[in-house]
Amino acid sequence: MNRRQLLKIGAASMVVVGAGVGGFAVTRTPEKALAPWDNDAHGFDDARLRALSYAILSPNPHNRQPWVAELVGDDGIILTCDLDRRLPETDPFDRQITIGLGCFLETLSIAAAEDGLRADIEYFPEGSPGERLDSNPVASIMLVPDTAASSDPLFKHIKSRRSTKEPYDTDKPIETAIFDELLKGSRKSVGWSGTLDATQVADLRRLSWQAHEIESYTPRTMQESIDLMRIGKAEIEANPDGIDLGGFPLELFAGLGFVDRVQMADQNSTAFKQGLDMYYALMHSAMGHVWISTPDNSRTSQLEAGREWMRLNLRATKAGVAIHPLSQALQEYAEMDALYEEIHELLNVQSPGRIQMFARIGYGPKVSPSPRWAVETRIKRA
Ligand SMILES: Cc1cc2nc3c(=O)[nH]c(=O)nc-3n(C[C@H](O)[C@H](O)[C@H](O)COP(=O)(O)O)c2cc1C
Repeated sequence: MNRRQLLKIGAASMVVVGAGVGGFAVTRTPEKALAPWDNDAHGFDDARLRALSYAILSPNPHNRQPWVAELVGDDGIILTCDLDRRLPETDPFDRQITIGLGCFLETLSIAAAEDGLRADIEYFPEGSPGERLDSNPVASIMLVPDTAASSDPLFKHIKSRRSTKEPYDTDKPIETAIFDELLKGSRKSVGWSGTLDATQVADLRRLSWQAHEIESYTPRTMQESIDLMRIGKAEIEANPDGIDLGGFPLELFAGLGFVDRVQMADQNSTAFKQGLDMYYALMHSAMGHVWISTPDNSRTSQLEAGREWMRLNLRATKAGVAIHPLSQALQEYAEMDALYEEIHELLNVQSPGRIQMFARIGYGPKVSPSPRWAVETRIKRA
């Protein structure tokens, strides 16, 4: 560390001490980017908007929020994918993006039921896309009044649901009864499984770590993540998507020039190594793993897997269990081929079936919600 950097730290510390660490941290909260989580305050008069204001809170890869909802007539919605929000390096066939759109459809459907509406959903009404998604609809949705559309008990967990990317408590195993509840999936088209077995968990910790290393040491896949990083409040507010890195002390270090995109991409830098160390700890604190597989890899199966993922994430929230998707070993690029084969063999899923979602579970800290674009920005009016 040179003299200039030391002086900068000294000056910055005085500012922080002056404001108080807590005070400084509060000023760094990206309030606008988090406002969509307070959707009840909006008082929407169109039931579609109300349901959509929950749907945009769904989990989705790299928080790209690829959804565009066109309002059609009085009760219709056409869902398309914003093709610029895909992840061509780590998701070359838009499989994960499609799963995220499945999560969106499930949340939409759960939220509509709260208003006594049934969501009649047709997948890919103009035909299933080919190797990549296209501009045709992913789904057409009609919200139909239905006295039988009863409130879904998972509804009340939508706003506290998270993908918890923190170390889990390795002294706190998951009780078998809770684990069994998590795995109560509802779709026949989707396969469910999981493990709490110490030997298998150790093997899966090792495998998820190796997959993370491959993604990190492959420059083009690592760069895709780096390009999507929003570092500090101003960047998060300007683009409330991607990988948000904010709060204290990270924002302070970024302001001092210790965290930047060039260093993060440099395999010899401290920032790169610290990033890896952080992930090593995350992967090795898994207290169990869960996964969802489908008998084929059709677009419909991907949407269905997403809908079930949403429900699993909500059931975990209800049970107080933290959950963190780890998609690296499931990704389709040459450097990952061997681990892709290994995870499918280990978890006994044979082609043409495939694992669509894989995650670690455990007990973790409460984390803040991730940023979202306001619902109005994701809506197209016919
Ligand atoms: C298909 C899919 C794949 C995902 N893969 C990963 C992953 O590999 N690593 C990770 O940290 N999060 C992963 N996530 C979680 C997203 O990063 C997360 O949903 C997004 O950042 C929004 O945060 P939230 O779920 O807390 O609202 C995945 C989510 C989905 C739907």
